[in-house]
Amino acid sequence: MINKIGIIGGGNIGGVLVSEIVSRRLARNVGLVDVKEPEFAKGKCLDVAEATPVFASDVNCEGSKTYEVIEGADFVINTAGVPRTMRPDGTFPSRDELLAINLKITDFVAAGIKKYAPNAIVISIANPLDAIVYRLFKKLKFKPSRIMGMAGVLDSARYKYFVAREANVSVENVEAVVLGGHGDTMVPIRSACRIYGLPVEQFISKAKLDAIEKRTRGAGGEVVSLLGSGSAFVSPAVSALEMVEAIAFDKRKITPVAAYLDGEYGVKGLFVGVPVILGKNGIEEIIKIKLTPEEKKALAGSVAAVKKTSDEVDKTK
Ligand code: APR
Repeated sequence: MINKIGIIGGGNIGGVLVSEIVSRRLARNVGLVDVKEPEFAKGKCLDVAEATPVFASDVNCEGSKTYEVIEGADFVINTAGVPRTMRPDGTFPSRDELLAINLKITDFVAAGIKKYAPNAIVISIANPLDAIVYRLFKKLKFKPSRIMGMAGVLDSARYKYFVAREANVSVENVEAVVLGGHGDTMVPIRSACRIYGLPVEQFISKAKLDAIEKRTRGAGGEVVSLLGSGSAFVSPAVSALEMVEAIAFDKRKITPVAAYLDGEYGVKGLFVGVPVILGKNGIEEIIKIKLTPEEKKALAGSVAAVKKTSDEVDKTK
C-alpha cells in the first residue's frame, strides 16, 4: 500500500483526487495543499474525512495552506493552476494562453516538492500540460522516469468513448491511443485503434472517424464551453490515478503519458505524449509505435507546438 499521496491544488480536480483515493483505499495518507484562503484545503479534507466511515476507509486526509502537508509523499499529483474558463463573450482561452500565470504557480509548486517530497514520483495535470511538466522537470531535476504529465490517458479515454458510442459497443471493447502534445494538435492514432482486436475501420466509416478524431482534439474545449465555468475535472483525476495504480502495483502497464524524450520518436529534450511502460520505478520503457506517414507528419506538427511553448518556458526565468 502507498504510504502517502501528496496533492497540490485542491480545486475541482484535487477534490476528486482526494475522494477517489479515499474510496479506493489507495494510500494510508493523503496530504492536500492549496493556498486558497481561509483554509480551503483543510475544509476539503475535513469534508471527505467525515465521509470515511461511510466509505469504510481509513485513509487519513490532511489539508493545509502550506507545503509541509506533502512531506515524505511517495507520489505527488500537481493540479495547481488556473483552469480554462469561458469568457463573458462565450470564447475561452487555449491551454497555451494559461502559460504565463500557471508558470508562476508552478515555480512555487516545484519549490514545495523539492523541499518536502524530493523522493516522490510526480504526475502533473496543470495546463498547458507539456510546458508545465517541462518547467517542473527543469526546476526539480528529477530523473525523467520519475516525472510525467497526465494527458494521454484522458485524451485516449475520450477517443475510446467516442468510438464506442459510434460503434455501439462497450467502451471495454475499444483500444485507442492519442499521442503528441495535450493541445489542439494531439494525434489520435487510427492505425492503433481496435475494437475487439479488429481494425476500427471495420466498424466505423472513414468520414465518421475523421469527425471523431476532430472531436477528440477539441474534447477539453467542448466540456469547457458546456460547463460555462472551469474545465473537466472527474476525467483528469481518475486518469492520473490510473497512472498511480500502474506504478504502485508495479503493473508494467502500457500507458500513454507525457514523458521526457531523449531521442525517441526523433525528439530530444521535450515532454511529449507517448506510450510507456509504467511500473514500480515510474516510466520503465518508452514504447515505439509504427506510424503511418500521415500520423508521423501530424506527430511532428504536434511536437513543433510543444517545442514552441517549451521555448516560451525557457525564456521565462
Ligand atoms: N499552491 C497550491 N495550490 C494552488 C496554488 C499554489 N501555488 N496556486 C493555485 N492553487 C490552487 C487554487 O487555489 C485552486 O483551488 O489550485 C486550485 C486549482 O483548482 P481549480 O481552479 O478548481 O482548477 P481545476 O479544474 O482543478 O484544474 C487545475 O488542471 O486541467 C488543468 O487546466 C487545468 O491548469 C488547470 C489545473
